[in-house]
Amino acid sequence: MKGLILAGGAGTRLHPLTRAITKQLLPVYDKPMIYYPLSLLMLTGIQDHLIITTQEDLPNFQRVLGDGSQLGISITYHVQDNPNGIADAFLLAESFLDQSPVTFILGDNIFYGHGLPSTIKLAQTNNRGATLFGHYVQDPERYGVATCDTQGNVVCLEEKPSNPRSNLAVTGLYIYDKHVCEMAKQLTPSDRGELEITDLNKCYLERQCLNLEVLGRGTAWLDTGTHESLSEASKFIEVIENRQGLKIACLEEVAYRQGFISKKDLLHLASSFKNDYGTYLNLIADEL
Ligand code: TTP
Repeated sequence: MKGLILAGGAGTRLHPLTRAITKQLLPVYDKPMIYYPLSLLMLTGIQDHLIITTQEDLPNFQRVLGDGSQLGISITYHVQDNPNGIADAFLLAESFLDQSPVTFILGDNIFYGHGLPSTIKLAQTNNRGATLFGHYVQDPERYGVATCDTQGNVVCLEEKPSNPRSNLAVTGLYIYDKHVCEMAKQLTPSDRGELEITDLNKCYLERQCLNLEVLGRGTAWLDTGTHESLSEASKFIEVIENRQGLKIACLEEVAYRQGFISKKDLLHLASSFKNDYGTYLNLIADEL
């Protein structure tokens, strides 16, 4: 299983914040946004990742994450020249994926909840075709929306419908089998000129190999595309971290707990931070 993160886009809804820097490197409380989706993939055990971003933002991602070796993982990068849509990721990632199944996540999606990595790992093991993760929301018209029958099978997928048939939004986390690049090549751009992820998922639905896992209300799904949602996500992380004294999506901690790096490596990483973040990493190293 490989990991793919789409972290380009125009970020127009966040202007002027995103005039000089991509959305995915903006702070969500104490970390750059990209830490959150990357940590989730790492928590499912994935060590081989591709990040797709823009030409301008690529050097900044490299400054923040490098090649991943300090975290015991591999991170490679690919440029998306134009924001041609979410499903464009699979045209760009074809040689990286090399027929491997993939867990795909949007760089501006944050997930948090007890047991979530296990839920995703199980879905990775059981995936036959594509697996989507649904979450109930108040404003489904902003998202891809799934309608299910009484057995929980998806019967319909609609992209940003004006009259949604359900409140079940399709989140920005997906698992695909080795055929995903072939399927993406068959797509044509939508009226807004993008290769739509909903169209890709509909191809899997037509072939009857699409599954949807509903993430229950014990899971938080935050998207950070607007000023309000970005600020809310920061507050959410701040409240939980300060209450628990534990960090969410601390990549160095995740790498250590996953066994990707040793205690010595963690202490070395800790010494590069001259602040509370470094103190926290030292505490983690002492504790285990
Ligand atoms: P969106 O939020 O749909 O688009 P955006 O980030 O460009 O923002 P805005 O609508 O404000 O202009 O994108 C969802 C995620 O997918 C986000 O992490 C950016 C990424 N993305 C790309 O990397 N390339 C693309 O072509 C598109 C459409 C999105």
